[in-house]
Amino acid sequence: MDQYAVMGNPISHSKSPQIHTAFAAQTKQQLEYKAIHVELDGFAQAVSEFFTEQNKGKGLNITVPFKQQAWELAGQLTERAKRAGAVNTLWKDDKDQLWGDTTDGVGLVRDITRNHKVTVQGKRVLVLGAGGAVRGVLQPLLEQNPAEIVIANRTVSKAEELVELFSDLGKVTASGFEQVTGMFDLVINGTAASLQGDLPPLPASVIKNTTVSYDMMYGKEQAVFNHWAQEHGASKTLDGLGMLVEQAAESFSIWRGILPETTELISSLS
Ligand code: ATR
Repeated sequence: MDQYAVMGNPISHSKSPQIHTAFAAQTKQQLEYKAIHVELDGFAQAVSEFFTEQNKGKGLNITVPFKQQAWELAGQLTERAKRAGAVNTLWKDDKDQLWGDTTDGVGLVRDITRNHKVTVQGKRVLVLGAGGAVRGVLQPLLEQNPAEIVIANRTVSKAEELVELFSDLGKVTASGFEQVTGMFDLVINGTAASLQGDLPPLPASVIKNTTVSYDMMYGKEQAVFNHWAQEHGASKTLDGLGMLVEQAAESFSIWRGILPETTELISSLS
């Protein structure tokens, strides 16, 4: 049977096997999907072993901390992956070439616009963080034609680097957290601050009564940021579970040529 997997370290809490197994059942595809724990110095070897004919490996999802290594390893990259500098999806084509793509940004945008019916077009968007997670979502967000994206980060120079990289796609500027000015329609937390229970020191004035806040984390990790947004009057607070399921659906469609339905699965996981 065709084999798929997610590779990461740590990996035991990954929901990807459950998600892809549900997609396979829904779309009547014969495949197996498992989670593989990879040693920190063993990524390239694990990938090459997975794709041997004997192991029947057809596609991989890649998670922390290997997304950048996967980008370097892939001989072929989609356009959006080239700019993102990281990939979460690998597969081999019929010429045995290893391809990489990033589906996180598509997942985020689909969750925001389709599942939650929140429009990005014409809106002021504040993105917090300038690491790999944010880099992977900027292009699909800018393709929605927001009025403006402000990238705020603890280390402002990293936000400035991203501005340079993405400014040909739309209006995008950099800022420190405390220096952010004005109100925003959509505030997306893509920092790792929530993992330590930290809150980026933003002025509360960024939130108005129609602001939607979105934390790319899900479960208890998103709580700190979304509580803060709610306390300051945000109209909606969303977590990243829908993004997780949507990025998985996009990967599944790259591998199998069929885009699964996600609504019921998202409800059953929440
Ligand atoms: P990821 O792949 O999750 O984006 P990363 O590339 O290490 O991981 O980036 C982590 C992001 O979270 C960065 O924007 C980081 O800010 P710095 O660039 O200043 O390091 C941000 N971050 C991590 N811990 C944070 C904290 N406690 N408060 C605010 N921002 C934090």
